[in-house]
Amino acid sequence: MRLVIVSNRVTIPDRHEKAAAGGLAVALREALEKRGGLWFGWSGDVNDAAAGQAVRTVQRGKVTYAVTDLTESERQTYYLGFSNRALWPNMHYRLGLTEFSRTDYAGYLAVNRRFAKALIPLLKPDDLIWIHDYHLIPLAAELRRRGVTNRIGYFHHIPWPPAEVFGALPFSATLISTMGAYDLVGVQTQVDVRNLISGLVSLCGARMEGGKVRMGRRETTVQAFPIGIDVEAFRKLAAASERAATRPIKATRESLGARKLVIGVDRLDYSKGIVQRLEAFGQFLRSHPEHRGRVGMLQIAPPSRTDVPEYAELDRQSDETAGRLNAALGEFDWTPIRVVKKAYSRNALAGFYRRAQVGLVTPMRDGMNLVAKEYIAAQDPADPGVLVLSRFAGAAQQMGEALIVNPYDTHEVAEAIRTALAMPKSERIRRFERLYEIIDATDIGWWTQCYLDALSGIEAPAQDSAPK
Ligand code: G6P
Repeated sequence: MRLVIVSNRVTIPDRHEKAAAGGLAVALREALEKRGGLWFGWSGDVNDAAAGQAVRTVQRGKVTYAVTDLTESERQTYYLGFSNRALWPNMHYRLGLTEFSRTDYAGYLAVNRRFAKALIPLLKPDDLIWIHDYHLIPLAAELRRRGVTNRIGYFHHIPWPPAEVFGALPFSATLISTMGAYDLVGVQTQVDVRNLISGLVSLCGARMEGGKVRMGRRETTVQAFPIGIDVEAFRKLAAASERAATRPIKATRESLGARKLVIGVDRLDYSKGIVQRLEAFGQFLRSHPEHRGRVGMLQIAPPSRTDVPEYAELDRQSDETAGRLNAALGEFDWTPIRVVKKAYSRNALAGFYRRAQVGLVTPMRDGMNLVAKEYIAAQDPADPGVLVLSRFAGAAQQMGEALIVNPYDTHEVAEAIRTALAMPKSERIRRFERLYEIIDATDIGWWTQCYLDALSGIEAPAQDSAPK
């Protein structure tokens, strides 16, 4: 069976590419390149001419990329508006940041309809269709409405909030009911499974039957599949960085000298807790002045969704916080915090992680967080660094051997940084080995296989199985 992946953003790989923007893009590319298939979605470009709405296909190895542009109004309503000012904050439990507009919601539904119409001519009867993330929740319902009977799965990369939180979103009941058009809905954790099922039951009257969710005449399986990374490939990249003479890695080594390094790597997004993390590092230096001049923090934060006002505000706040802390705590020959707002290649990232004694992964809420897994994969097994991980990242469900913290408590995070820097080598090795074993056993190959086995094992829907 051919695999057809659909996601909002599709980046066609080229030779000079920088790091992909998010965990989803990296993970899906790794999954699809091995197996081959079709990947359909938005090109990332905006084009108001009719030609932009046509589907362009490009072949790269075993993968066919099929992309379409968005019009400026679609980008505003579907992508920036409903997806990223309503769904994103709501699903990250941030009701106070949620901005709902009916125009945005109409645009979201319209793009899902347009994607369905554009995808249908590319489909073959046996294709396994796998749709990704919150931008495309109603896509299967649109496909079913047009007679598509293939197996269709959905994977939700971000958290699914409790029914009380999701229910605050206008049209939440209509939206969640479109989940009934999928054969399999995958989420990251058991908490997400519980939240989604209770939402389906309380918001649109779904019933549980034999472990499946029944809505009208259709049955949907809801299950957790914690996403992983290509551990082996990343481990090799990081090990090679020890010998590499590429500029970013060499320059970092030289500029740090004997100083220790605490690293954070995130899209510049309020869900990642970047400002709170900088404050925690400042708190650590205040509480433990003996570390001043001996350790530095590097925060890599490529800008994201910069046209959304809440992101522009975060950008300003993180600059302000880093500037204020550097001015208060720095010395003429030592800058405590470096915030670098750009994307680096996977090579350079692997090298940075390996050089860092502490990986700070402290999101306020996160579906999984693959940086936590990359940091562990990149460590030197003979002298590994320590991961400090937010309990609100999905990864914390699997990675209990990290130092688990509550990112809302600056003092707790500051103390975890101190503990990590002081941790004896034997304990670092013990924790690292357990963490490595887990991420290796549940790597990207495992994730893809488990999901696709589950989706293909599900009985094909009957011809008349449009959602009721
Ligand atoms: C997160 C989301 C992805 C998204 C990525 C980058 O990982 O789960 O769906 O693609 O962020 O965000 P962007 O808005 O730039 O595509």
